[in-house]
Amino acid sequence: MIEGSLEEQAQFIEGLEGIDVMQHSKWDITTKLVHGYDEHDSVTGGISTPIHMSSTFAHPSFDGSTGFMYSRCGNPTRLELENTVALLEGGKKAWAFSSGMSAIACLLKLFSAGDHLLVSDDLYGGTYRLFTDVYARYGLEFDYVDFTDPAEVERCCRQSTKALFIETPTNPTMKVVDIAQIAAIAHAHDALFIVDNTLMTPYLQRPISLGADIVVHSGTKFLCGHNDVTAGFLVVADSNRIFDIFNMAMSEGSLLSPIDSWLMLRSIKTLSLRMERHQQNAIEIARFLKTNEHVREVYYIGCEEHPGHRVHVKQASGFGAIVSFRVDVPERVLSTLERIKLISYAESLGGVESLMTFPLMQTHGAMPQELREKLGIDDRLLRISVGVEDARDLIADLEQALA
Ligand SMILES: Cc1ncc(COP(=O)(O)O)c(C=O)c1O
Repeated sequence: MIEGSLEEQAQFIEGLEGIDVMQHSKWDITTKLVHGYDEHDSVTGGISTPIHMSSTFAHPSFDGSTGFMYSRCGNPTRLELENTVALLEGGKKAWAFSSGMSAIACLLKLFSAGDHLLVSDDLYGGTYRLFTDVYARYGLEFDYVDFTDPAEVERCCRQSTKALFIETPTNPTMKVVDIAQIAAIAHAHDALFIVDNTLMTPYLQRPISLGADIVVHSGTKFLCGHNDVTAGFLVVADSNRIFDIFNMAMSEGSLLSPIDSWLMLRSIKTLSLRMERHQQNAIEIARFLKTNEHVREVYYIGCEEHPGHRVHVKQASGFGAIVSFRVDVPERVLSTLERIKLISYAESLGGVESLMTFPLMQTHGAMPQELREKLGIDDRLLRISVGVEDARDLIADLEQALA
């Protein structure tokens, strides 16, 4: 039986010291994706990580521990996933949660009533709702700013600013924030710099190497890639906040199950292949949309004329697979959504199947109209999460749907 304070118990918990950041340091990210942190099971040699479906773990002696005691505090399958994600992002430690929102909710518990957070005005609508409807009620203060304007960010920092929180590129209008520039502003104000890296994944962009302190993911998206698991991640750059996050994560218990952890490990192995194909298709679809008579604007950071293109190529190695576009009349939104056959009208993004979303009613429905109008999320905007099907089939589907 292991007794004592949480700090004392924590020394018996495997993985809390964080990963060996030099592990596999010679490998390219593609190899890290395939082999993960531990490569294979150290006990059996199993190439695939075992699924440890145990909620509790027997202690070998009265004061001994295997490193695991109860799955809410740590589970071997989840730990391999967490270590793999930390390795990929270049962080010290990661946690796997049951959704992106539960990861962000845990992160917000690092702050106290009266703390001010400067956040992007162009966030995923669910994150916006969590901030305004839930955490503002507990006394956290949020200001929403355009992070593509560093002077405005600087102006909005206060004495009580404890964190800057961004997504880049943003979703759905694909604004690009200069990560290194905002990191410098955050650190000059002694604030944490948090980046939601969902749209790019560590395969294309690694914010910690550009100065981020914490990286957030909706693992439900490209990391999972098959539209079959909801998951989320927090990754910390260094050891400073490991114990605090562990304490909150295990106290609240919204961590990922062993079977979902295994599915995520399995998905991550093919991330590089999927991202390359997603992106190749997205480039072709953006090209097609630009020539379609019913399309007025196309938002894809791979297009050289996109206002964020230049900053993006400086900090990422690819453009991802989210393409938004504005049609000529609102009625065409309805007809397009009703006519698509191969592409599904559904929320979410990042899976192998292509999905089309109407942000105004779906992903950004929780945002006030005024903010949506400012961001250009209107009744003519559609978003495609481009899958890995044949690009010609996708284009044919879009062509007939837009007609
Ligand atoms: C950029 C971004 N962050 C966070 C989330 C929330 O993740 P989840 O749906 O896994 O809770 C989403 C969901 O769409 C997202 O797009």
